Amino acid sequence: MKAVALIPRKPDSLYLGELPAPSVDDVPDGRGVLVKVLRVGVCGTDKEIQAGEYGAQPPGYDFLVLGHESLGVVERVGAKVTELAPGDYVVARVRRPGNSPYDAIGMQDMSTDDEYHEHGINLLHGFFTEHYVDVPEFLTKIPAGLREVGVLTEPMTVVEKGVSQAYEIQRRLRIWNPKVAAVLGAGPVGLLATLLLRLRGLDVVTIALRESPYLNSDLVEALGARYVSARKMSLTEAAAEYGPFDLMFEATGFSPLVFEAMQALGKNGVLVMASVTGGDRMAEVPADAINLGFVLGNKVAVGTVNAAQEHYRAAAQDMTLAEAMYPGWLARLLTHPVQGLDNYRQAFDLLDGQEHPIKIFIEVAPFN
Ligand code: BGC
Repeated sequence: MKAVALIPRKPDSLYLGELPAPSVDDVPDGRGVLVKVLRVGVCGTDKEIQAGEYGAQPPGYDFLVLGHESLGVVERVGAKVTELAPGDYVVARVRRPGNSPYDAIGMQDMSTDDEYHEHGINLLHGFFTEHYVDVPEFLTKIPAGLREVGVLTEPMTVVEKGVSQAYEIQRRLRIWNPKVAAVLGAGPVGLLATLLLRLRGLDVVTIALRESPYLNSDLVEALGARYVSARKMSLTEAAAEYGPFDLMFEATGFSPLVFEAMQALGKNGVLVMASVTGGDRMAEVPADAINLGFVLGNKVAVGTVNAAQEHYRAAAQDMTLAEAMYPGWLARLLTHPVQGLDNYRQAFDLLDGQEHPIKIFIEVAPFN
């Protein structure tokens, strides 16, 4: 079967390769689930891997199959699988257990291992292929009514984890009742964070570089959130005008902004940092002022990566809620479908191009 692969750490080494087709019997004890891949999204992490900055091949291979934002349909299940049946739509978890105590209790998204195992990213092959086989424990069933937008589930899980971390931490405040949130960045993660915070009933200000109107600012406004162009208003000005910000979600990919966000964060506020920045950018920051604000304001900043099982379930629930509250909104994020694995290069060219895509994804196989 076909697979889109590359040589990790070798820039621009993408190619369409061949892999042996998996079988439900590849998994012992009748626990295998054979999944036909339907759609796979591409994101900034794929771009970094393709540029040779990130990622590693599985042991025993000299290539890595890319793709971690998957949607598939179950084709066959082993004799001992009761949780899933052929025809179910599923999304596979990206990170798999390593060796830390957190991994041992199923919290590999909180792993303290230096080397983590992530499908399509690090040490495990991904889903840019025609089929894969897995165990039911790592698959989340997606309602059939969500299949058109199901490829957004994995990025949504990242947002679910970030926001739930914020709420979990803020239980320290006993009566925390967040009113205003700021989301930094209006890419797929920023837009999904705007959605989730609106579903939680917060007023949301989404701040990104481009001046409105354009599709992303329209999408922000369609949720009843406010779009602010950072070219027109600084973060500090936005905080003075619309804040104080109880919760901030940083998803721009531009790390110096984190320090500006720390200053703009309201008292008792929580800043969620979700940008994976593989570069080596330096920044000069007003260290005393940031520190003082954090100390006197009891502020928290928290990093977040990946997601656990509960966040996959929450993503499916909140995407269902989103379809009811903002019908058609999620589908508007799916701006750039690419037909078939054979056209993989088109998907990666779009990532580098000037078209401002929101979500690029490959339609590996049609829905039946
Ligand atoms: C993926 C996460 C992953 C992270 C770090 C993101 O693009 O969505 O699942 O944990 O990259 O590799």
